[in-house]
Amino acid sequence: MEPNELLQVSKLSVSFGGLKAISNVDLSIYEGELVGLIGPNGAGKTTLFNALTGLCRPSSGDIIFCGQNLIKKSAHYICRHGITRTFQNIRLFKTLTVLDNLRIAYHQNMRYSFISGILQTRNARRQEQEALKEAYAMLEIVGLTQHADERAVNLSYGNQRKLEIARALVTQPKLLLLDEPAAGMNPAETQELLHLIRFLRSEFGITIILIEHDMNLVMNLCERIFVLDYGVLIAQGSVEEVRSNEQVIQAYLGADV
Ligand SMILES: Nc1ncnc2c1ncn2[C@@H]1O[C@H](COP(=O)(O)OP(=O)(O)OP(=O)(O)O)[C@@H](O)[C@H]1O
Ligand SMILES: [Mg+2]
Repeated sequence: MEPNELLQVSKLSVSFGGLKAISNVDLSIYEGELVGLIGPNGAGKTTLFNALTGLCRPSSGDIIFCGQNLIKKSAHYICRHGITRTFQNIRLFKTLTVLDNLRIAYHQNMRYSFISGILQTRNARRQEQEALKEAYAMLEIVGLTQHADERAVNLSYGNQRKLEIARALVTQPKLLLLDEPAAGMNPAETQELLHLIRFLRSEFGITIILIEHDMNLVMNLCERIFVLDYGVLIAQGSVEEVRSNEQVIQAYLGADV
């Protein structure tokens, strides 16, 4: 691996029965990059995220992250070691408040035992207070402070997506995978999201891979773009390179790339 290479995927394949959803994919992501992952519906973008986060088992290949092979590691292990993601279909505890959604995420990372939690030991109480403080700080970052006590289900679609991002940040990831974060957002929300993503990268140095169908957003935000089509990585490069790539134009057949 090169010194600033954060993630190196090589010869990665994922199959569902006879269907090869990811086929022999090689790609590298460098520290601090903000890259886009695009491709038509069913191209394998979400499946690639699932493989990177331990939610599906690749049939072959390697995923080297910070020098470690994650290929057979559990989702929990991978999350603890620095890769987190948001989901294309929002996954929140809908009937809980915004704040509690974040507190639960902190709990999953806490280091006190179940028993000390029940007995309310000093350590458990201290961690609990710490979690609350950090949850509020996170809400401030994503701009949800005034919604802290609302149930997640009552948030606008855009705010639910922001809450998902906040929850992903709780584990302090090195690599954040965003699966269509702008889906269902109105133009104002999309603009806010764009600023938030830039802020996360500049302020926390988080490396980000963004799956997105909103080409304006991708082209505005990302320095490098990967294109999947039928599970195959058909192109990678700068916005200009990808936009003028013949195979990409074919894959989208006249779509506005
Ligand atoms: N669990 C699964 N079992 C069987 N087939 C699956 C499964 N998950 C995905 N697939 C198939 O794998 C292919 C890639 O799907 P995937 O969801 O990764 O595409 P995508 O690029 O994220 O598409 P979209 O833009 O619509 O979200 C599709 O043909 C899909 O039907
Ligand atoms: Mg998808």
